[in-house]
Amino acid sequence: MDRRKFIAGAGGAILTSHASSVFGTSNIANLNNACGPTTRLTRGPYLTPNSPLRSDIRENSPGVPLKLELTVIDDLWCTPISECVVDIWHCGANGLYSGVDNIVFNPDTLRVSDQAINMKDKSYLRGHQVTDENGKVVFTTIYPGWYMPRLAHIHVRVVWRDVEWTALDTQLYLPADVERAVYQTAAYAARGPNPIGVDRDIVMKGDAEAVRNLTVTLERDGDGYKGNFEIAATSL
Ligand SMILES: [Fe+2]
Repeated sequence: MDRRKFIAGAGGAILTSHASSVFGTSNIANLNNACGPTTRLTRGPYLTPNSPLRSDIRENSPGVPLKLELTVIDDLWCTPISECVVDIWHCGANGLYSGVDNIVFNPDTLRVSDQAINMKDKSYLRGHQVTDENGKVVFTTIYPGWYMPRLAHIHVRVVWRDVEWTALDTQLYLPADVERAVYQTAAYAARGPNPIGVDRDIVMKGDAEAVRNLTVTLERDGDGYKGNFEIAATSL
């Protein structure tokens, strides 16, 4: 059940009691400015079971380093959520995911071809961690490459305490100016810039505002980049 509808239906007295006893009265004000939830997007076909528990998911993947800090907050109370399993997975500079048969699209028709590229024996650029008391996890990875017909993206799945109904799947995007620079560097240059913009992305379908809302702001960090993104998810 949608918690907001439940709470609205339950009446203000119960709401006030719950908010006061569990979160302190100062958090009641937050109910007028609920923090989410973060836009849910398809999980896609490339999540694999039992991803490794690790912070550095690169293995030996070539590419520009990217330090990604994710903060999970409760979409109703706007407070950090600990004990969330946060899985991320994305393709390499070569545009291929590890651990799966990669679907190959026809570049002219943007339809699925009958080809596939098997990377099932690899495990790079996948991993999960559990949020700390500040709702945070940090991953060290590389800037993702691109594949047809998608904007470059990083898949994220958040699940609170193994409670399946709290699962939130989304995808994070990255700034175009950073991407232009990254795709000129050694690991990416042979494939050139991504020919797919938001209009032809099969998930976002031209929704530039949704892409903006899911874009991680990046800053330089040594020979790579770093950024933080806040994900509003559900717990109870
Ligand atoms: Fe993907």
